[in-house]
Amino acid sequence: MKVLVIGSGGREHALLWTLKKSPILTELYITPGRPAMENLGVLVNINIQNSIDMTRFCKRENIELVIIGPEQPIIDGLADNLVAEGINVFAPSQAAAKLEASKSFTKGICKQYGIPTAKYECFVDERLAKSFVRSNKIKFPLVVKANGIAAGKGVIVCNTENEAFSAIDSMLVEKKFGESGEEIIIEEFLVGEEVSFFALVDGLKVVTLGCAKDYKRVDENNDSRNTGGMGSYSSPSIISKDMEQKIIQRIIYPTIQALANMGTPYRGVLFAGLITCKDSPKLLEYNVRFGDPEAQSMLPRFDASCDLLELMLSVAKGKLSAKTVELNSKATVCVVVASKGYPGDYQKGEIIKGLAKIESIPGVLVFHAGTKLDESGNWVSDGGRVLNIVGEGNTLEEAKSKVYSALNFLEWPGGFFRYDIGS
Ligand code: AMP
Ligand code: GLY
Repeated sequence: MKVLVIGSGGREHALLWTLKKSPILTELYITPGRPAMENLGVLVNINIQNSIDMTRFCKRENIELVIIGPEQPIIDGLADNLVAEGINVFAPSQAAAKLEASKSFTKGICKQYGIPTAKYECFVDERLAKSFVRSNKIKFPLVVKANGIAAGKGVIVCNTENEAFSAIDSMLVEKKFGESGEEIIIEEFLVGEEVSFFALVDGLKVVTLGCAKDYKRVDENNDSRNTGGMGSYSSPSIISKDMEQKIIQRIIYPTIQALANMGTPYRGVLFAGLITCKDSPKLLEYNVRFGDPEAQSMLPRFDASCDLLELMLSVAKGKLSAKTVELNSKATVCVVVASKGYPGDYQKGEIIKGLAKIESIPGVLVFHAGTKLDESGNWVSDGGRVLNIVGEGNTLEEAKSKVYSALNFLEWPGGFFRYDIGS
């Protein structure tokens, strides 16, 4: 089977690496991809915004499945264009992708279907938003959020009225978040443990994939800046079976039912960001794709007994027959190595050494999120989050010690990482 993957980050590198293990794969294409992915498939240059180019390529190469990695092309409706041409796509439609593109849309579903989430109100008017804050209906700390996608930056936790007012102003008056902040949500701050939960959905049927934990802060300090994710871990024991059932019954099923009722069934991987408190899960947000860097720790737990490509194809066709997906019982820890300065300004083009040594260590994987090759064949940095180093072990401790020992061989003075991933 010929497959085209769209994307170029660490998540897509992990996807390609996992798909490559599938016995039904014959050829793998990647667009735009990056040089580190060349040993896994053919890099092709297609303008994915041009649906004629995309369709022409898929038809000419007999692509049987297109897998879209990042959210933006999904939200822009790429899956709709391809499906209309009879091409199988692993990604939801633009209408179903509103689960990620609009927090007020998701909150509306929560209200209508009784899905547990933080108490909230939506606003487009700054004065009404401020008078709601003053009304004390939601106690401090409270959270002010831009409705649309804002690269992880559109969420502001506010401890005082002044902080809440300046967050409201930044979105509704100063328009710092552009269109994403034209509507805002003010919600209750949830206390508990945060977990990223993944399920495959084929329209109506749901199969749990598993869980991972993401580390969003740039360093070990809980007040430091938010990033796209500085590391993740995955293991069988993150949540109990009982909690998993509650998440499926109270949150995932009603959401899938809601979308089916609207005539826009959800197909793809559904990523629920949750807070689990005591025995109850609450929904923070949905994403309509694999998490990054959660995928880099979860996907290595797909064994030969569990063919990701077969599962993705059945989701795309609306024929998911698997009752369960059993990831292996190992633990994995993924450490993100970023350019010093990230999530602010940083240098690019710095030489990175030691990767061949790291890759040769059994139980250690290297996924590239932002690298390229220079003229002399050296790996050089080419982004904020640059490398994802993954360690595998029988326990979380073992996986953690594996990845951090491997990182001793990394020679890149301009890079940094957190030391507490997996703790
Ligand atoms: P979101 O983009 O909605 O996932 O928010 C980004 C991050 O902000 C989440 O991963 C949480 O760590 C935090 N966050 C968002 N909403 C809340 C909330 N209501 N209570 C506590 N933390 C939150
Ligand atoms: N790791 C969070 C995300 O992918 O949005």
